Amino acid sequence: MMALPFLDLPPLAGASGTVRLPGSKSISNRVLLLAGLAEGTTVVHDLLDSDDTRVMLDALRALGCGLVRDGATLQITGLSGRLPVHEAQLFLGNAGTAMRPLTAALAVLAATQGGRFELSGVARMHERPIGDLVEALRPLGCTIDDLGTPGYPPLRLRGEAGGRLATDRAIHVRGDVSSQFLTALLLALPLVAGEHDVVIAVDGELISKPYIQITLNLLARFGITVQREGWARFTIPAGSRYRTPGHIHVEGDASSASYFIALGAIAAHGGAPLRIEGVGLDSIQGDIRFVEAAQAMGAQVSGGPGWLAVHRGAWPLRAITLDCNHIPDAAMTLAVMALYADGTTRLDNIASWRVKETDRIAAMAAELRAVGATVTEGADFIEVTPPTAWRTAAIHTYDDHRMAMCLSLAACNPARVPVRILDPHCVAKTFPGYFDALFGVAHALPEDVPVITVDGPTASGKGTLAAELAQRLGYELLDSGALYRAAGLAALEDGVSPDDETAVARLAATLDLRFADGRTWLRGHDVTDALRAEQAGMLASRVSALPAVRTALHGLQLAFRRAPGLVADGRDMGTVVFPDAALKVFLTASAAERATRRHKQLISKGISSNIDSLRADLEARDLRDSSRVVAPLKPAEDAMRLDNSALTVEESVERVLAWWAERRPFAAASAAAKG
Ligand code: DC
Repeated sequence: MMALPFLDLPPLAGASGTVRLPGSKSISNRVLLLAGLAEGTTVVHDLLDSDDTRVMLDALRALGCGLVRDGATLQITGLSGRLPVHEAQLFLGNAGTAMRPLTAALAVLAATQGGRFELSGVARMHERPIGDLVEALRPLGCTIDDLGTPGYPPLRLRGEAGGRLATDRAIHVRGDVSSQFLTALLLALPLVAGEHDVVIAVDGELISKPYIQITLNLLARFGITVQREGWARFTIPAGSRYRTPGHIHVEGDASSASYFIALGAIAAHGGAPLRIEGVGLDSIQGDIRFVEAAQAMGAQVSGGPGWLAVHRGAWPLRAITLDCNHIPDAAMTLAVMALYADGTTRLDNIASWRVKETDRIAAMAAELRAVGATVTEGADFIEVTPPTAWRTAAIHTYDDHRMAMCLSLAACNPARVPVRILDPHCVAKTFPGYFDALFGVAHALPEDVPVITVDGPTASGKGTLAAELAQRLGYELLDSGALYRAAGLAALEDGVSPDDETAVARLAATLDLRFADGRTWLRGHDVTDALRAEQAGMLASRVSALPAVRTALHGLQLAFRRAPGLVADGRDMGTVVFPDAALKVFLTASAAERATRRHKQLISKGISSNIDSLRADLEARDLRDSSRVVAPLKPAEDAMRLDNSALTVEESVERVLAWWAERRPFAAASAAAKG
């Protein structure tokens, strides 16, 4: 899908149903590295497919690991701890879970087996600290060159074959900036724990302990049992070797679950809970403890292995004060739940937010203020008081997936104002399908879902324009002509006369029509091409003149009005079906131009035709469509007319998007939003 510049969320009124979470980022990237270093082939199930895992996979491929996709699984044949490739330049995007462990692993491999590896990322990655890890590796005997600002990527790791590391004394690492440094050492040092125990000593209070627990848990799955004394000293026993577990399943992402737990707490008030699958109360991920925090705010949560069910309990939510050190990522979601609380919520001990994908304390403060909240931020805390007046804001996302996912929950606001998410594509870092998943379970009141209608005569280019608009806005698409065409085809199949109003209406009312992946299925068979044929158009023109048929298809058309929005094309979209549409376009082109376009279209399909008779057909259909008694083709009174005879598709799209921009309420707020 193309990267949308923004996605407008209508106010969300409720949530229900089931959402299935993608695999955990933290587990996925650890599993990939372990499998890549281990001996043997590991079959990975439910791996997350996202930006961060993609850079890790690219790196492993460049280092010589065997990767084979087999349906839903990935087979990785590891290096058995031996480097087949001794030089590589690895681009790791903004994936801390790739940068830190690969730095450690390649530093010790280069130092002992010889090699030269350069690791870099996007600009933000070069602002994310790695100095504490480098300082831990250098005394061990690793050669690490700073290629930019010392203490930050990019880095070069190099060494000669036969080098020895000083593993006979404890390796010291700071634990109070990012737990990823310790994770990196824990994942890398089994590579050099051949002759004696390797000891890692943590200096300072270790933050984000649950992530270390995940690391230890996965190391155990790959045959390495680390002994620990509290959270201060970790020993990798001599003779440790990575061995593949054969198969490994990646749990759903507990941090991703937090958005749906919050959604349930805020919006699942219709009786049935919101069900979340892929992660449950048995999760090994620390962020599962977000459940307790959400419960403290009032959420009703139940669950079991691999599933959770959430519904609204206390309402408004209860304001809390919480030390969030144990749930650094998911705590961001609490900051947004705080918008719906009965007082001021304070989240403490979140200094690590400042060194994540963006400075998350500053970003969160700015964007919560943009929707109307009162926010106080400190070096390591944030305080949020709910809005007294909600503002219609365009939310900056700072190339931070969690900012986008968190702030989408502002769409549940009681003031029923929409929320614009800028650069929504950033969710691809960990949850590419986030917005589809959100709209799968969160619903808006139909009257809150914006509709753009595109009506006009046949072959005016409505379909092309509507499809392009829907794509650019991330909206649903309704090609209402396809419904009439399908009704006509169904009549033909059943030997029903297209003029038999009762019989055709009966067929239309129970039309088994599905749209999926750009194809259209009628009664289980693919009618995509048959629907576009002239014969189907002629049949449609006849059956669509029958009032009972139009009535039968009315409800089906209304059902397309779903979050985040709808672009509907046809003849009566603006006049009859969606009279309250936010923007109505009446698209025309001269009959000569339309006949020429249709002619070209047919030629491109290898069908010969005659322009004059095409034009005569078009005019006959226009006449029938506009002179029929019910829902005749005519512009709505408030429609914007667009004659595209002399316009390219792109020009028409830009024209309509400009009209749309004028009607959306976001423009003013966006300038104030970036703090
Ligand atoms: O847009 P189209 O060419 O696919 O439409 C096929 C026929 O269906 C057209 O002749 C008129 C009819 N139609 C209608 O009556 N109302 C609509 N909303 C859409 C199509």
